[in-house]
Amino acid sequence: MTPSDVKATLSFSDGSPSVELPIYKGTVGPDVIDIRKLYGQTGKFTYDPGFMSTASCNSKITYIDGDKGELLYRGYPIEQLAGKCDHLETCYLLLKGELPNAKQKEDFVNTVMNHTMVHEQLQFFMRGFRRDAHPMAVLTGLVGGMSAFYHDAMDIDDPQQREISAIRLIAKMPTLVAMAYKYNIGQPYIYPQNDLSYSGNFLRMMFGTPCAPYHVNPVLERALDRIFILHADHEQNASTSTVRLAGSSGTNPFAAIAAGVACLWGPAHGGANEAALKMLEEIGSVDHINEFIKQVKDKNSGVRLMGFGHRVYKNYDPRAKLMRETCHEVLNELGLHNDPLFKLAMELEKIALEDEYFVSRKLYPNVDFYSGIVQRALGIPTSLFTCIFALARTPGWISQWEEMITDPEYKIGRPRQLFNGASSRDVPDMAKR
Ligand code: SDX
Repeated sequence: MTPSDVKATLSFSDGSPSVELPIYKGTVGPDVIDIRKLYGQTGKFTYDPGFMSTASCNSKITYIDGDKGELLYRGYPIEQLAGKCDHLETCYLLLKGELPNAKQKEDFVNTVMNHTMVHEQLQFFMRGFRRDAHPMAVLTGLVGGMSAFYHDAMDIDDPQQREISAIRLIAKMPTLVAMAYKYNIGQPYIYPQNDLSYSGNFLRMMFGTPCAPYHVNPVLERALDRIFILHADHEQNASTSTVRLAGSSGTNPFAAIAAGVACLWGPAHGGANEAALKMLEEIGSVDHINEFIKQVKDKNSGVRLMGFGHRVYKNYDPRAKLMRETCHEVLNELGLHNDPLFKLAMELEKIALEDEYFVSRKLYPNVDFYSGIVQRALGIPTSLFTCIFALARTPGWISQWEEMITDPEYKIGRPRQLFNGASSRDVPDMAKR
C-alpha cells in the first residue's frame, strides 16, 4: 500500500477532538481511508451495512472498474484471457500471479488432471441425500465433506499443503458437480478421464454413460471453458468475502470454500443464473415483456429483472458481452440459432437498456443474464447452473484465501455493530412476566 500525501481529518460538531486518518493509494482504483485506529481514537465505529463503501482487504488478484465495465485478472483484461487462454491457464494466473509458459502450463495441467478422482467413500456419502435434493445442497455438503478425507494436507501454515489443497479443490470440483448431476438423474457416475481437457473431461463425466463412447464436441468444450474463465474470480463479492471471513478463523480450506458455495447459492448472487432462466421461461414470449417490465417497476411486486444490475458494474458487465457471444456460438453449433429464449433475452435486454427506469439506475445485464441460456443449450439442467458457477469460481476463492492466509496483516474478521436493542434490565419472576 502506498501512503497518500493527502490525509483525512474527521472533525465533530460537538467539539470532540478531531482525528487525522491516513489515506492509502492502490495501483488503480479508489484510495482507502485507514480507519483501523478510529475506534481506539474516538470510541466510535463506522457504519456500512452491505459494505457499500468499505474495502475489506488489500488484494492484488482482480480489479473491476464498474464505471468503465472493466474486469482484470492479475492485470489482464477478461476479453483477452477469454480469447487467448484456457481455464487452467487462468487458474494458474489467479493462483500464482503470472500466466504460465508452455512448460509451466504442461506441468500444472498434468498435476490438476491427476487429482480429478475423489475418494470412493464419497459415493456412499452421496447416498444420504434424497435423489431430488437441489444439487447446490449436495455440493455444499460434498465440499465440506472433503475436509473429512484430506487430513494429510490441511495444515494452513504449510505452503505445500495449501498448494495441494488448492489443486485438489480445482481438480475435484468438476467430478463432484458431475456426481451430483448423475445422482440426481439416477445414472451411474462416470469416472474422470485424465487425457481429456479439463472442460472436455467435465462434459464427458456429465453426459457420458458406460454404454457408449463419448465424443467431446470441441465447440461446446471451448464454450464451457470460456464460461469457466468468465466466472473464475470477481474481487470481494459476497461468496469470496464469505470464504475470506470463514478462512480468517484458521479453518481448513475445504470448510472455507464450502461456506463460499453456500453463499453463492443465493438468488441475489450466483443463484441469479437459475433465476434469470426461470424468469425468461415465465415471461414466455416477446409479447409479455412490457407487462413484465411494468411489474419490475412496481416496487410492491418484489419482482426484479434477474441477471440485471450489479453492486459494482454501473456499465455493461464485460462478461455478459462475452457470454452473449458464446451463446451465439453454441446455439449456431447446435442448430438452435432460432432459440426462442435467446431471442426473448436479447429483446428484453434491448427494451430494458432503452427504458429510463433501468438507465437511471445504471442497470445493465450481468454475467448471469445469458449464462443460463448457453448452459441450457449445452444440456445442463437449470438446477445445476449455480454448481457450474461454484466449479468455475473455485480458483478465485482459493486464490483469495491463499492471499489472505499469507497477508502479514491477516487477522480474524470480527465486525462490530450499532446496537439498538434493550439496554441492561433485570429478569422478572415468572409470575410477573
Ligand atoms: C453476481 O458482487 C459480484 O461481483 C457478484 C458477481 C460475481 O461474479 O461474483 O458478479 C455475480 O452475483 C451478479 C449479480 C447477480 N444477481 C442478479 O442478477 C439479481 C438481480 N440483481 C439484483 O438484485 C441487484 O442488482 C444486485 C443484488 C446484483 C445489486 O444490488 P445492490 O447493489 O444492492 O443495488 P440495490 O438493490 O440497492 O438496487 C439499486 C436500485 C434499487 O432501486 P431504487 O430503490 O433505487 O428505486 O436498483 C434497483 C433497486 O430496486 N434494482 C433493480 C435490479 N437491481 C437493482 N430493479 C430491477 N431489477 C434488478 N435486477
